[in-house]
Amino acid sequence: MSARHEPVLVAEVLRVLRNGPGLYLDATLGDGGHAEALLDAEPGARLLGTDRDPEAIARAGERLQRFGGRVTLAQATFRELGAVHARLGTTPFTGALFDLGLSSRQIDAPERGMSFMREGPLDLRMDVGAGRPASERLATVSEAELAEALREHGDLPQGRRLARAILLAAGRGELPTTRSLAELTDRVLGGRPHPRRTARVFQALRIWINDEAAELEAVLAWLPGAMRPGGVVVTLAYHSGEDRRIKQALRGRPEPATRRKVRLLQARPAEGPWQELNRKVVTPSLEERAANPRARSARLRAFRRNSA
Ligand SMILES: C[S@@+](CC[C@H](N)C(=O)[O-])C[C@H]1O[C@@H](n2cnc3c(N)ncnc32)[C@H](O)[C@@H]1O
Repeated sequence: MSARHEPVLVAEVLRVLRNGPGLYLDATLGDGGHAEALLDAEPGARLLGTDRDPEAIARAGERLQRFGGRVTLAQATFRELGAVHARLGTTPFTGALFDLGLSSRQIDAPERGMSFMREGPLDLRMDVGAGRPASERLATVSEAELAEALREHGDLPQGRRLARAILLAAGRGELPTTRSLAELTDRVLGGRPHPRRTARVFQALRIWINDEAAELEAVLAWLPGAMRPGGVVVTLAYHSGEDRRIKQALRGRPEPATRRKVRLLQARPAEGPWQELNRKVVTPSLEERAANPRARSARLRAFRRNSA
């Protein structure tokens, strides 16, 4: 059985997310680690916990059982959050957390095919009950769409060449497993086996299969109307493209010219719907990275909903 997901930057998340009593959202519940820490630290918090992965909901449900009626859980993608929230009534959120990407459970489950380090079917779905596995989708996608996904989500300049080879192999049924895709990548892109490059191919395909960029856009558009004035949104991104999109959408202003050491800003002038709470992105300490290498690319941002 796979190990529990280790929540990232827990103290730093709580420092900004804790915002007094009220309704909170954890839209990426995973194993429920952040949710549990929030419910323990904020006795007046009620939580709506959602995740697109039904296995995550079931597992986190057991972990959070001791909080009883303070917790409501629902399987939902970001696009479905509006409908799920409306079912609870009209209370806007006091705080919301988005810890993007995959949980360790998903990465470590060979049957999901998320990692080239584990032999398994080439599936790549976060919710195995929705849509079709990557091995099938790759047989019918257009070369242009696939090349764009590889370039955009995997920073692979050779996207077109790889896309052509993937389509050819998938069409012949030659890409059923993670290993077959990893071997094809090495063959087409040449040189010695290059684990980081292969990981970027898997990352790009996973983001594409799960439509993660459109999911993020949908939630960024929905958030201003869902938060109460003074409500806080905390995001953890593990991919530079996602972090950039969050920054652009919520910051609504150019980057500050001067950069000082990481510190919380108490009174940054309000502009647009959001006030940014950290002057600089927050990243895990060396100690956290050593203890949990999967935390290494995490980038935390926090924003407060203005009254206007
Ligand atoms: C990094 S894990 C969250 C871990 C969690 N914070 C914890 O402490 O255990 C990310 C979770 O977000 C979910 N997820 C990612 N994108 C999603 C989306 N668009 N809609 C709903 N859930 C999503 C994944 O299924 C995964 O369980």
